[in-house]
Amino acid sequence: MLILAFPDYLEQAQRLANQLNVPIAQTFLHRFPDGESLVRLPPALPRHIVIFRSLDHPNDKLIELLLCAKTARKLGVQRITLVVPYLCYMRQDIANNPGEAVSQRIIGQLLADLFDDVITVDPHLHRISRLDQAIPLQNAISLSASGIIGSYLKSQLDHAVLLGPDSESEQWVANIAAEIGFEYGIAKKIRHGDRDVKITLPNRNFSGHPVVIIDDMASTGRTLTQTIHLLRKAGATEIYAAITHPLFCDDAETAIRSAGVKDIWCTDSIRHSTSCIKLDALLATAVKSIL
Ligand code: R5P
Repeated sequence: MLILAFPDYLEQAQRLANQLNVPIAQTFLHRFPDGESLVRLPPALPRHIVIFRSLDHPNDKLIELLLCAKTARKLGVQRITLVVPYLCYMRQDIANNPGEAVSQRIIGQLLADLFDDVITVDPHLHRISRLDQAIPLQNAISLSASGIIGSYLKSQLDHAVLLGPDSESEQWVANIAAEIGFEYGIAKKIRHGDRDVKITLPNRNFSGHPVVIIDDMASTGRTLTQTIHLLRKAGATEIYAAITHPLFCDDAETAIRSAGVKDIWCTDSIRHSTSCIKLDALLATAVKSIL
């Protein structure tokens, strides 16, 4: 087996390779001036390869993934496992308007056609509960970062109230709270637009308490920014954010920091300066389980 790594994800790939004690090879990528990608794989590949890359910047990376998988098959690879710590296109799970693409199903089917196994972390599943309902494969494995996020929080704080900013976050917040014995609450969120959300805090006392906002991803950062403003008004002493997938588009991080967060702790599903919680051991255990 061999891990096929990408230039933007090399350090994580090296750590996964160390955990699994397998070699690593690099994919060569070139972006042409018009945005097209050139992908070159090492020509001699083993029977089984692991393609390891998160799918932030999804449109470009999905095309590169398609080119990689098809080329690997052409080179004789029999089994391709995709390890994709951040899996894109999972949020659109129904057509909200007539004629709208249900991208979760379409991208899920594309991945099922290209790969033999898919392993990811905390995918944004809302109306379905199992990853194989989106990616119809026997080995469609959804891991949870709750355990390692919980351990990290416990190492940083003696006590805190955990807060999920919307109903969808309850699955992650409740697990982490159960893991480390902290109390939790769930806010209500109404989204009016990409950068326009209205949050209502749950009816409980935050005054004098440290609070950790927990979410699966921060994209524009508006969910976190709004929640931080409300918590400050409600008298929380210190406010932290623990996020699985640090997408942090455009000015997201600046907005969150200006709102008054004390610290931001994320996993390294996406490379970012806040990625202090490492996923390699969790991912390695999952890869071993399918061999
Ligand atoms: C959506 O329900 C997710 O769990 C996140 O809350 C959301 O994607 C965060 O988006 P943003 O950072 O753009 O507010």
